[in-house]
Amino acid sequence: MSKKSFIRFTFSAWLFIMTCTGGEKAAAQNTQTPPLKEIFKNDFLIGTAMNAQQIEEKDAAADRLIKQQFNAVTPENVMKAEIIQPGWNKYDFDLADKLVAYAQQNNIKVNAHTLIWHSQLPAFMHGMRDADSVRQYFINHITNVASRYDGKVYSWDVVNEALNEDGTLRKSIFLEKLGDNYIVEAFRLAQKAAPHTKLYYNDYNIEQPEKRAGAIAVIKKIQAAGVRIDGVGIQGHWKAGTVPMQNIEESIKEFSALGIEVMFTELDLGVLPNPWNNNTAEVSSTAKGSAAMNPYANGLPDSVEQMQSKAYADLFSLFMKYKNNVTRGTFWGVNDGQSWLNGWPIPGSTNYPLLFDRNFKPKAAFYSVIATVTPRGN
Ligand code: G3I
Repeated sequence: MSKKSFIRFTFSAWLFIMTCTGGEKAAAQNTQTPPLKEIFKNDFLIGTAMNAQQIEEKDAAADRLIKQQFNAVTPENVMKAEIIQPGWNKYDFDLADKLVAYAQQNNIKVNAHTLIWHSQLPAFMHGMRDADSVRQYFINHITNVASRYDGKVYSWDVVNEALNEDGTLRKSIFLEKLGDNYIVEAFRLAQKAAPHTKLYYNDYNIEQPEKRAGAIAVIKKIQAAGVRIDGVGIQGHWKAGTVPMQNIEESIKEFSALGIEVMFTELDLGVLPNPWNNNTAEVSSTAKGSAAMNPYANGLPDSVEQMQSKAYADLFSLFMKYKNNVTRGTFWGVNDGQSWLNGWPIPGSTNYPLLFDRNFKPKAAFYSVIATVTPRGN
């Protein structure tokens, strides 16, 4: 069966099911959009980040696309410490509970994000000097939050972004007050609180050799301590046209060799000029705006869209080459309009980093991504 007829067959089969199941309206609206989750169902999970408005189902267009396209979601912000534990003994599980309920109703897996991170810490942690208080927060937060969602979420980013670009441990209140074994302790506490939940380490630029070596050392240290770690998340905040393909391939091989899952957890291929000569996702560092730094405010030129489409196709071809090691690809937002890259590093930017445009319509990159799946049996 040729590739074109395979995709035509999958789509018509999907359309037939939609029509039979009375999904006429949705089908009519999405006639051109085969579901990513169906296309990749034999390969890896396909996910998206969800923001608070989407979790509260206040965004009908996004809601339709999330239910149609994705079988995994990551909370963009609502399960982070500053939101889920605003007070020493005060927890706010409202939006996190809504996300879990939404996912259960729609047969979607939740990758909870994130238990231990130097950023978006609760206000009461800022300036905390006493190591015993930091340790008590650390134990309480992981134990109380992870145990609440054990078996209800599929996985946790237990620790996020604990490394510097040279692979050394990033300075943080946790490293400072708890010492360099804090990552192992975080996974030990999470394993105890959430025995039915997968546990991951998540970071950006860990495809880069030095930082990758640092991540491998962290993972080996956890494993050597006899503590469970199930996978590593490479965030994937890259720029279309400069995606480090060779480093990504090497990182898939090296992380897989540790016997753990490899995931791409916060995918977006931005198209705007990079104000720095390095690739970072450090939210606290911003840059000065100018027309030159925001060249597509009035629309994405076709040449740039085609370049991005090729970049996404190359990336997903690599994921398909290693589909036995890559277990998930998650986009950091449903559509271009939702992306954090419209506000970072230059507030008020107009970026186009995802597969769906601001009208929730599939872009060229969407079709090049699904074209990376070859029909079974060929
Ligand atoms: O909720 C408040 C709102 O009440 C207030 O009116 C508004 C104005 O300041 O801010 C809102 O909080 C914002 C929050 O997103 C929710 O929208 C914060 O200012 C803003 O900093 C925060 O940005 C998030 C960022 O993490 C913070 O570090 C982005 O949405 C989110 O996409 C981004 O995600 C991170 C991953 O967690 C880890 N990897 C990198 C990735 C991108 O930075």
